[in-house]
Parts: sequence; structure tokens; C-alpha cells
Amino acid sequence: MQTVLITGANRSIGLETAKQLSAKGLFVYLGSRDLEKGEAVVKELHEKGFQNIKAIEIDATKPESIEQARNIVEKEQGKLDILINNAGILGVNPQTATETSVNNIKEVFETNFFGVINVTQAFLPLLKKSDSPRISNITSGLGSLTLHSDPDWKYYHVKSAAYGPSKSALNAYTIVLAYELRDLPFKVNVIDPGYTATDFNAHSGPGSVESAASFIIKHTLTDENGPTGQYFSNDIEDETGISPW
Ligand SMILES: NC(=O)c1ccc[n+]([C@@H]2O[C@H](COP(=O)([O-])OP(=O)(O)OC[C@H]3O[C@@H](n4cnc5c(N)ncnc54)[C@H](OP(=O)(O)O)[C@@H]3O)[C@@H](O)[C@H]2O)c1
Repeated sequence: MQTVLITGANRSIGLETAKQLSAKGLFVYLGSRDLEKGEAVVKELHEKGFQNIKAIEIDATKPESIEQARNIVEKEQGKLDILINNAGILGVNPQTATETSVNNIKEVFETNFFGVINVTQAFLPLLKKSDSPRISNITSGLGSLTLHSDPDWKYYHVKSAAYGPSKSALNAYTIVLAYELRDLPFKVNVIDPGYTATDFNAHSGPGSVESAASFIIKHTLTDENGPTGQYFSNDIEDETGISPW
């Protein structure tokens, strides 16, 4: 049975991804920075018949919590097959380039960029023990520099001086990570779930969590010939889903 860890999975896109992967028969560690919240969600899921899901405390900004989570997975599974770095924050709004404070930008980078790096590096030794390790870093269309500089892009006017750059940086890091792991059976990609109705945007997004999660899963559960170092977006309207960087 394949084992997956999803960060920020106690609600919204992460939770739906956990449900769909459990339904597919994977063992899911449902990451939650607040263990009580995660355990309450898992209790409900068990009552609804979802199997093989366990809450695990993991805060992407706290190295000791990441270390503790890694030790639990190591002890219980001895390896990790799939890491989905889903936890993310928008940060304080408005986010103008002219006035957003560096502290506000740093706060967003702590979770969306440095947090992903901390979690990834901590779990790499366990991922290397898998026959087909996968790392999916959840990005945003707002991280695409190409789209952001195109006045015809439908979200051209949605600018954010902290959130967008944090996802662009995540994209850049992922390219380097995929490159370094290219001779191993890893597939390492960034996946944009698309503009989705969640707490993140006061449920203003047109997409559903079901569509977001199934898109993430489609580009995570790939075979040995699958792509690595690629950027997929649920908002790209062609069958490849490949987004420009
Ligand atoms: N919704 C969209 O339209 C959209 C579009 C593109 C990309 N995304 C990306 O998709 C991912 C999920 O978004 P969402 O809409 O599901 O967001 P959400 O509704 O705000 O949920 C975010 C999740 O991340 C967790 N989280 C936040 N900071 C954390 C930290 N330091 N450590 C661990 N967990 C943390 C939250 O935990 P708590 O419950 O404890 O706060 C929550 O479980 C994010 O990376 C986001 O950037 C979303």
C-alpha cells in the first residue's frame, strides 16, 4: 500500500485530496498544524467509511513539528511514497508592491516557500526508500511570471506582492529539486489546483475542491514515464494542463 503525506489537509483542497486518495486505497497521513483539528476531521472520515487515514501534526513553519512527523512516519511505515506540499497562506491584504511590508512578505514565504523546503528536506530520506517517490508542490497560477506579464491573461489584474512571488519562488525551487533528483525514480512537479472556492478566498473561486483534488491526484499518481520538473494548472484549458512558467 502506498503512503502519502499531505500538509494542510484538515480542510479545503488538502482534505478533499486526502479523501480521494483514501478512496483509491492509499494510506493517508492527513497533516494538520493543530492535531486536535486533524483528529476531529479524521474521526468524521472514519465514521463515513474512509479507511487508512490518520491525522498527523505538522506545521510547515516549525522544524520540531516536521521532525516529529517524520519520526512517526518512519516508525510506522519505514518510507514515504508521496509528499503533497499543500499547506499555504495568502497573507495580509492588500498586497501592493509599493506598500506591503517586508515582514508581511516574509510571513507568506515562511509557509509557502521555506516551509515546503523544510518539509521536503526532512522527508527526502523516507521518500528515497520508495520505489516510485512523488513530490507535488501545490502552486498557483499567480506564480506564473509568463501569465502575470500577459495583459490578456484572465487574472492579469490579480496582483499580490507576497503570495504570487512566494509561489514563483516555489516553482523555481521545484525545478532545481526535480533536476537534482532526475537520476532517481522521483517525479517532482508543481501543481496549480485552479481558482477554487475555499476559505482561502472566501469561497469566491469558480472551481470545486473535488476538481482541484482530482487534478492534483492525476498529476501525482503518475507512472515511471510521467513528467518531472513540470508545471500543471487546472486553469489551463487544454488536455495537457501544462502551464507556462
Ligand atoms: N483556493 C484557491 O483558489 C487556490 C488556487 C491556487 C492555489 N491554491 C493553493 O492550494 C493550497 C490549498 O489552498 P486552500 O484553498 O485549500 O487553502 P485554505 O482553505 O486556506 O486551507 C489551507 C490549509 O493549509 C493549512 N496551513 C496554513 N499554514 C500552515 C502551516 N504553517 N503549516 C501547516 N499547515 C498550514 C491550513 O491549516 P489551518 O486550518 O490550521 O489554518 C489549512 O489546512 C495552498 O497552497 C494554496 O496556495 C489555492
